[in-house]
Amino acid sequence: MEPTESRTLDAIETAVAEIAAEMQAREDRGEVASYIPELARVSPQQFAISVALRDGRTISGGDWETPFSIQSISKVFTLALALGKVGDNLWRKVGREPSGNPFNSIVQLEHERGRPRNPFINAGAIAVTDMILSGHQPKEALGEILRFLQFVSGDDAISIDRSVAASEKATGFRNAALANYMKSFGIVENPVEHTLGVYFHHCAIAMTTRQLAMAGRYLAFEGRNPDTGHSVISLERARRINALMLTCGHYDGSGEFAYRVGLPGKSGVGGGILAVVPGGASIAVWSPGLDHNGNSKLGRDALELLARRMHWSVFG
Ligand code: DON
Repeated sequence: MEPTESRTLDAIETAVAEIAAEMQAREDRGEVASYIPELARVSPQQFAISVALRDGRTISGGDWETPFSIQSISKVFTLALALGKVGDNLWRKVGREPSGNPFNSIVQLEHERGRPRNPFINAGAIAVTDMILSGHQPKEALGEILRFLQFVSGDDAISIDRSVAASEKATGFRNAALANYMKSFGIVENPVEHTLGVYFHHCAIAMTTRQLAMAGRYLAFEGRNPDTGHSVISLERARRINALMLTCGHYDGSGEFAYRVGLPGKSGVGGGILAVVPGGASIAVWSPGLDHNGNSKLGRDALELLARRMHWSVFG
């Protein structure tokens, strides 16, 4: 290892350890998501962080061995899969603009005649899941999504938390409303219960921050798996997914996240965030307490501290 690389590694290790200690001691931790009953049972007293580098090294702190529900972070991976399947035809059905509205907004969808604003709000992600499902049985589509996550993270042990999926299915009335509404415009093509079933289950995939940071490496390193050099998606597509993460990845909190962290990021109501330092690192954080936009409170604070200390930003 070059001396500069080893200094960077030391700096990341020190920063990760200090940030994990600071976050574990924080008292104001936000509110755990309660609209999915299984998520409401998770203790907010947890915090984890992992940084994955090009050479496969990971630096982790806090509760990084505890799997959590990745929820909307799965939408980054389903978008990559759907683009691989239907290419730019995807954008006929889904927009690319920030929503400025909550992730489960119904009003906006009616206003825009059933075409979701972007692929990360719930409506957009349900439409993307529907594209992956077309031509397959729900089981096959779900298997494809899970295998993709196992492949990009290099970890076959990643699985779906069936109790979280069942819990969301039992209470997912808003998502059912969004999906039915889109079906009336032909944006959703498959039976609504099939599309929603796949969507609820991919949101219920459970991962540790280490697994998630490893899974995000292709977004940080030119669309490739840096271990093998094999292309997962094209460089152009990786850049575009990063652009969407920056502009839409935190819903109506995306502007604040870009301002404070300065990196593409995608949040989930399980309290996780995946952030990308193009050419530098893939970072996953987790703390279940959320802010009023449904984004992890301590997760964002931790990313802000780490980005500042490491001088990581896409803005120069
Ligand atoms: O559809 C839902 O409401 C959840 N499965 C995912 C929402 C989510 O993670 C929003 N992110 N902050």
